[in-house]
Amino acid sequence: MVKLIRVCLILVALSSLVAVASYSSSRNFRKHCLSFEPGKLIWNSTLTRHEHLPRGTTLDLEDNTSSCNRPSQEVTVDVCRIALQIPTSSRSSISFELWLPRIWEGARYLATGNGGIDGCIKYEDLAYGTANGFATMGTNNGHNGTTGITMLNNPDIIEDFSYRALHTGTESAKKLIKAFNGKAPAHNYYLGCSLGGRMGIKAAEAFPQDYDGIIAGCPAVDFNNLQGDRAMFYPITGNMNSTNYITVDTWKGLIHNEVINQCDGIDGVMDGIIEIPDKCFFNPNTLLCKNNQVENCLNSHQVGQLERIYAPHTYPDGKLIFPRMNPGNEIQAVSKLLTGAPFSYSEDWFKFVVYNDPDWDPSTYSTDDVRNADKLNPSNIRTYPRILPEFKKRGGKLLSYHGGQDNQITQFNTQRFWDRMAEADDKLQDYYRYFRISGMSHCNSGPGAWVVGQSGGSPAKGIPFDPEHNVLAAIVAWVEKGSAPNSITGTKFVDDNPTEGIEFQRTHCLYPKSQTYIRGDPKESSSWECK
Ligand SMILES: *[C@@H]1O[C@H](CO)[C@@H](O)[C@H](O)[C@H]1NC(C)=O
Ligand SMILES: *[C@@H]1O[C@H](CO)[C@@H](O)[C@H](O)[C@H]1NC(C)=O
Ligand SMILES: *[C@@H]1O[C@H](CO)[C@@H](O)[C@H](O)[C@H]1NC(C)=O
Ligand SMILES: *[C@@H]1O[C@H](CO)[C@@H](O)[C@H](O)[C@H]1NC(C)=O
Repeated sequence: MVKLIRVCLILVALSSLVAVASYSSSRNFRKHCLSFEPGKLIWNSTLTRHEHLPRGTTLDLEDNTSSCNRPSQEVTVDVCRIALQIPTSSRSSISFELWLPRIWEGARYLATGNGGIDGCIKYEDLAYGTANGFATMGTNNGHNGTTGITMLNNPDIIEDFSYRALHTGTESAKKLIKAFNGKAPAHNYYLGCSLGGRMGIKAAEAFPQDYDGIIAGCPAVDFNNLQGDRAMFYPITGNMNSTNYITVDTWKGLIHNEVINQCDGIDGVMDGIIEIPDKCFFNPNTLLCKNNQVENCLNSHQVGQLERIYAPHTYPDGKLIFPRMNPGNEIQAVSKLLTGAPFSYSEDWFKFVVYNDPDWDPSTYSTDDVRNADKLNPSNIRTYPRILPEFKKRGGKLLSYHGGQDNQITQFNTQRFWDRMAEADDKLQDYYRYFRISGMSHCNSGPGAWVVGQSGGSPAKGIPFDPEHNVLAAIVAWVEKGSAPNSITGTKFVDDNPTEGIEFQRTHCLYPKSQTYIRGDPKESSSWECK
């Protein structure tokens, strides 16, 4: 009897060995993928996709929401793709995708975030995570497409958007990964930028056990005030037919050039990059038309607009709502904030969430509106913790980066956020580190050395997956080896195209240190120091 049990145990052990080892063969992995039954494991879910994607697949996503603008995705490793629709309440649900890579050496799980006010799965991040060996999950954050219209009269969709979609996705993913691989993930990570950055901080606040390491890029923290801040611009600029409307060309040429003229040299190098935005206080009066000048200048109303645009957003009594915009962001900011049209994410937030009124007119925005939004704080979306005690206690690590010429969320807000947390914890760097990326626009692009492995949408393949060049590798090294990042070296590719080679690299400093030019060729990292 004992012998029989022993034989059985050995057989069981052998078969599980075989099951794990067999993934080294593509064919057996495919079989394992297709025989897996994910739907049964997740309560009330509906299986919507289940397929094996061999490396080299171009995944056709034409059937997905067109406003998400992700018609296809390259897949560079063998993946088992599972998509479910998972209910979160009787009137809400998430679209969930889990990509399980054949080779899963580090037993790592990665959750990915969303952007804007979206319900768009970031397929590029699913591909990026799996290409680096992570079992990777993404959701539509509870709704579809780039507007917030389905939030109208549906607080459950707002709740999904605030925190529940990501948390539900992660709980489901962990369950499925364990069933699929025969063991739970050993380390859990999160990667997101912008709204996705906020989602990461929210997770550390509300579900501190979900992740060991979180990358919260350019985080949309203090979310209600951020929506007010971004609603502020339209009533100032007016629409394209208003009397003193400043054209896109004037922004991109005259105004941007004058900002660069006033501020680029402060760091000692004229390269279109404002290394330390804190020192740049743009004075628009230099652009005022003199005498009979009518070209290449602004009238006094327009100069007045600029003064308001570059100032912090405050209540009438002077209380801060949101810090000032990053000077130097103009070339990108004209496509959204300064375009002479309502900023769509804020417009949707007030219409469909704060007021439940599709007729709300964004040209009437005032500080009363942001006060209402902040008071309402739907599903506690604010995301502005001063301390994260549970996350710290369980050994969680948090990394933020933020571009200095950000055109959608000012870098000054992440600075304010980190400083405020540092006031409450003088050992904040033990678990939360922040890097300012000079010359980066919102989450990516810009004149600086901005490629830091932040997402599958950036040319991450052109840089090594190591903790010095890649934030995702950096958080892995911090969590798994206790090796905390002291700097991140960013890469600027020629024309932002890795196949054309590297234009220059710059080592970005651990905040609160500042990038400082010492001597020599400014395109060499060694010509700069963190002070
Ligand atoms: C997009 O595709 C995923 C699966 O590929 C699916 O779960 C989701 O429901 C789709 N979304 C829409 C709006 O069709
Ligand atoms: C779960 O499924 C049951 C049976 O189909 C259904 O009655 C119930 O409403 C579902 N619950 C949710 C939250 O969707
Ligand atoms: C999003 O699309 C999926 C798939 O088409 C659908 O099941 C779900 O209800 C949609 N969500 C919303 C909020 O409309
Ligand atoms: C501006 O005027 C043009 C031409 O009259 C009109 O087509 C357009 O809709 C107007 N735009 C706005 C934002 O009012």
